Amino acid sequence: MARFLNKLLEAQRLLSFDDVYLVPRKAPTEPSNVDLTTRFSRSIQLRIPIASAPMDTVSEADMAIAMAMLGGIGVVHRNCSIDEQVEMVMKVKTAPPIPLTLFYAYIDEPCQRVIEYMKDQSLREIPVVDYTHRVRGYVRYGDLVSECREDPTKPVELFIKSGDIYTVDRADKARKIIVEGLRDVIAIVDHSGRYLGTMTVREALEEYQPVLDEDGRLRVAAAISPFDRARALKLDRFVDALVCDVAHFHNVNVLQASRNLVKELKSDFVAGNIGTYEAAVDCIATIDRIDAFRVGIGGGSICTTPDVGGVYAPTLWAVAAVRDAIEDHGLDIPVIADGGIRTPGDAVKALAAGASSVMLGYVLAGTDEASAPIIAVGEKLYKPYRGMASRGAMARRFSIDRYSRASKRVAEGVEGLVPYKGSVKRVVREFVEGIRAGLGYAGARNIRELWEVARFGLCPRKRIPRELLSIDQR
Ligand code: XMP
Repeated sequence: MARFLNKLLEAQRLLSFDDVYLVPRKAPTEPSNVDLTTRFSRSIQLRIPIASAPMDTVSEADMAIAMAMLGGIGVVHRNCSIDEQVEMVMKVKTAPPIPLTLFYAYIDEPCQRVIEYMKDQSLREIPVVDYTHRVRGYVRYGDLVSECREDPTKPVELFIKSGDIYTVDRADKARKIIVEGLRDVIAIVDHSGRYLGTMTVREALEEYQPVLDEDGRLRVAAAISPFDRARALKLDRFVDALVCDVAHFHNVNVLQASRNLVKELKSDFVAGNIGTYEAAVDCIATIDRIDAFRVGIGGGSICTTPDVGGVYAPTLWAVAAVRDAIEDHGLDIPVIADGGIRTPGDAVKALAAGASSVMLGYVLAGTDEASAPIIAVGEKLYKPYRGMASRGAMARRFSIDRYSRASKRVAEGVEGLVPYKGSVKRVVREFVEGIRAGLGYAGARNIRELWEVARFGLCPRKRIPRELLSIDQR
């Protein structure tokens, strides 16, 4: 009986992003009309299907703010003290939750300087702010030019006119007024009257709108371990979702700890990472409430688990398996595809395989908002990016809590540099427009429809001749 040989010969095919493509179908609408609204977890709606990975070179407060402002969500990493993680979450929750720009003048600024500033920025009007951050009113370009001709050093305070100022929860009204051409700029203040920023035509016409909680604040999630109850309970008071950050969630001790922890939580609980049908079934059977699954094992760009352990659940394959398990149980739990997503096309494949959103590390790591510093190597700029199970990241974890004990004593991630890419806004917009185009080609108006109509074809990744690749991609 060739028992072992049969096991090998009956090996399942574990398909990854490089093995399949979607077959084109009749597009029911134009890509610009594709609706990408989705769910991150049971109670968190997103406008774009993108989450930032909880990694210490990617997701701190700046990234989480940017992600929520774009309509996605940031998951703040846990490679820091509890207080530091709470502080990052609070920075997101207290950030102005609408697109604003800091165009203003101080009361004692000389007219000439303000005139030049307004000319540079093509503004006809600008709010004037005092040193306690109260908005005193507005000055107009025409008034300043005519009134200050003789003495350009006069302070702008002398020429302030009144004008409407809106609190942040009335930003929609401010937007409407600007879009209708009734005003050029409107100052937005918080509930205590402090200046938050200025809305101009550019912000009013912003296509990407933020994702807000019931109190009008930006949504944010935070990474936890089910064994760190103190951290989870503290964060639970402030976040919208707690995201398990465990390499192999399908583990008896992790399942038991999660089962106990969930009973004490009020925010959404995201279980992960898992990679198989059986793991999803065991999670559903053991834990009373799972609000999303984070899916994919070993697929991350910085991940060495497949080499270190010989184990791999490619994200695409894992997403399809977990989605099947969820549907076989008659449930509707969102799946977050996590690891190895490098292009919008990969994201479209993950969504077509049953994901509701994708989690990105590598794609976001080179942006301004990623938490690592810019590094120059020769003439080129880079940002460090490292796996959370790399030597460097683990060393940081143990330096924060020197009494913590590693359950594994081997690194499963690498550290490196990624090309610097500038603002995350531009990177995410390009990525999202790619996803929209992909849904159009695949024949879908939205993600749910993609689940129904998508057809996969086996095909190795198409290569572009090396000499045609842009320098950064080589
Ligand atoms: P990408 O491909 O977007 O993947 O860079 C990000 C995801 O990779 C996982 N991750 C790791 N996996 N060792 C691993 O096996 C690591 O050191 C590591 N660090 C991050 C994680 O799921 C993340 O969202």
